[in-house]
Order: sequence, then structure tokens, then C-alpha cells
Amino acid sequence: MTTAELAERYLMQTGRRLPVTFVRGRGCLVYDEEGREYLDLVAGIAVNLLGHAHPDVVAAISRQSAALIHTSNLYFTLPQVELARRLVELAFPSRVFFCNSGAEANESAIKLARKWGAKHRDGAFEIITTTGSFHGRTLAAVTAGGQPRYSDPFKPLPPGFVHVAFNDAEAIEAATTDKTVAVMLEPVMGEIGVIPAAPGYLKRVREWCDRNSLLLVLDEVQTGLGRTGRWFAYQHAGITPDVMTLAKGLGGGVPIGACLANPRADVFEPGDHGSTFGGNPLACAVASTVLAVVERDGLVGHAAEMGDLVHGSIQDLGAKETRGVGLMQAFQFEEPKAKAFQQACLESGLVVNAVDDHTVRLVPPLVISAQQVDRAHDLMRKAAG
Ligand SMILES: Cc1ncc(COP(=O)(O)O)c(C=O)c1O
Repeated sequence: MTTAELAERYLMQTGRRLPVTFVRGRGCLVYDEEGREYLDLVAGIAVNLLGHAHPDVVAAISRQSAALIHTSNLYFTLPQVELARRLVELAFPSRVFFCNSGAEANESAIKLARKWGAKHRDGAFEIITTTGSFHGRTLAAVTAGGQPRYSDPFKPLPPGFVHVAFNDAEAIEAATTDKTVAVMLEPVMGEIGVIPAAPGYLKRVREWCDRNSLLLVLDEVQTGLGRTGRWFAYQHAGITPDVMTLAKGLGGGVPIGACLANPRADVFEPGDHGSTFGGNPLACAVASTVLAVVERDGLVGHAAEMGDLVHGSIQDLGAKETRGVGLMQAFQFEEPKAKAFQQACLESGLVVNAVDDHTVRLVPPLVISAQQVDRAHDLMRKAAG
């Protein structure tokens, strides 16, 4: 049986896969079972910041796994506290809870907001989120997310989520009641097709949250850690959230999620929350290595530069709209041809991501070179016909 046939036989069919089986990678290149090379502009959906098989990541996995992979959070481990310290230094005065994915990081943020509401806001529990947002696949995360196709099959959904249009601060203001405890946003909506916050939006929401004693929770699972050309996307807006969630790029491909909360929001007490695997020494040692390499190699600035190149290169593909920040870019065709475009790219050795019938998303490794952006552009022009 082929790998695809085995997958159909033995894997739950929760999503559709493209007709390719990858077996190894190096930098921005991946290779299939036949040894065919592909240039990877998806990076495991904004995960592999340093590309594939980065020597420092490989060495960190090897070193830490030979010392200690896991002990549980019943005990202290140095890699966990070192990673937390580095994240807090890079972000804002806060403390960190570690978990294993973006959905779990958001689940932590939701629980934190509810506990904060119980403690400080007379039991307020409603969280305002935006239509089209994506926060992961746990029950609370699909309910928080503003895409009913991901939540409707699982009704009844947990109460306490109110959805308003993205980039509409007035809608948040109008939806706020004495039950509202937090506003939860993606600074650039990723999964729906890369929709950046409009200038002034996050600032106005921050001010509204301050005036009304609400927590501002930013989901930086996709935007965080250099992807948008700043360490965190909120820095473009000159604001700071109360709570921020991270995952995806943090472990360079090794699963890890994190929820950071400032002293005002940090209300978890022993027994409130936990995770068996969260913050294990292996994931944390690798994540610290990823952060160190991003810093050492100047990859945040490089992402900004390469993002400008990618943005310039997608202007002549016949798309009706192009948008993005840093290495988080997308273009939208008038006609429903994004899936055919994705397939044509794949056949010519280029991995791109059609998020729907019209829209293609590009979230390559931060280590992509200008030559690779050129090569991708040539292949995309051919695929666009
Ligand atoms: C903004 C955002 N939040 C949360 C998630 C969920 O992350 P995970 O799939 O690691 O649970 C994603 C994944 O695409 C995301 O883009």
C-alpha cells in the first residue's frame, strides 16, 4: 500500500492532504519519497522558523534528549525557567505557563481571563473575539474562533464568547457589557488568509480595555517570534497586551505552546491549571536554542527584509489583492483558482498554502534567502499562467 492508502486505512480523516509524502528537509528545502526537491513556503504552517534540520536545533535535541527529556511539572527543571526568562525579556514583564500547542495556549488564556473575572470583575466572563479568527481546535478555542464551520458540528458550545467584525473597534465598544472580561485578537488574522490589523485598531482596543478594566489577550501563535519582522506583532502597534499566547515557531518544529500574563492578569494559583508534557526540558531547551539563533543571526530584521521582497514578488501573479506583514503574506485571486494554483506549484517543486478557493498564504522559514524568493517567484508566475 502507498502511504496515502495507509493513511486512509489507519488515520482518522480529519483533513485533506496534498498528494505528496515528505521524508526529509534541509533549510527551506524539503524532499519527497522519490527524492524530489521542493522549496517550502509553508514551513509546517509558520512553524519551522529556522527551516528544516537546522544544525543548532538538531544539536539541542540530541544534547537535551541525552540528558533529560521529561520529568513532569512536579519538579523544577532549568531549561523551563531559562526559556521563560528569555521570553519575558523579549516580550513584556510577565510570567509564563507552558503547554504543547497553540490551542492549549489559548485555552490557558481563556481560563486565566475567566478566573481574573471571577476575582476582580464580579464574575464577568465573556470574551469578545472576531469573526473569521482562528484560535485552535479545542472546544473553547473553536468557540472563541469566529469560524462556525469549525465549531457548529460540536454544539452545544461553551457559553461566554461574543464575535464582532475584525478591524472594527467600535463594534468591540458596542459589544462590551458588564459581563465582558476580555478582548482576544490575532494581530494579523492568519488562518483566514492573512488579514493585518488596520493602523490604529490595536491601539484603540488597548485604550478601550484600559478604560473598561478588560484584559487584552493577543493570540500571537502564528505572528509571534519574528514572523512579522518584529519579535511580536503587537510591537508594530506600539502597545502591549495583558496576555499573549505563543506556539508554532517557538520550538522550531518541536511541539510547545506558551501563555504569558502580566502581573495584573497573572491570577493562576497552584492547582488551577497544568499539563503533563507542557514545558518539558526537551521542548524548552530546543525553544531556547531557536530564540538564540533567531537573535544571533538577525532573523527578525531578515524576516522584515525578505517579507518586503516576497510582497513585491506577488504583485504580478494576477491576484486582485495582496496583503501581509513580514514573512506572513497572502494574495487573493478573483476566480476560485487557489487550489489549482497550489497543485501546479507543488508539481513544479514549490510548496504554498491555499487557505480557501481564492487565497494563497505564504509563511516560509525566516531563513529564506533573496535567491529563494526569486526562485519561488519564477515558479509562482509559471503556475499562475
Ligand atoms: C492564530 C492561531 N492561534 C491558534 C492556533 C492553533 O494552534 P495549534 O494548531 O498549535 O493548536 C493557530 C494554528 O493555526 C493559529 O494560527
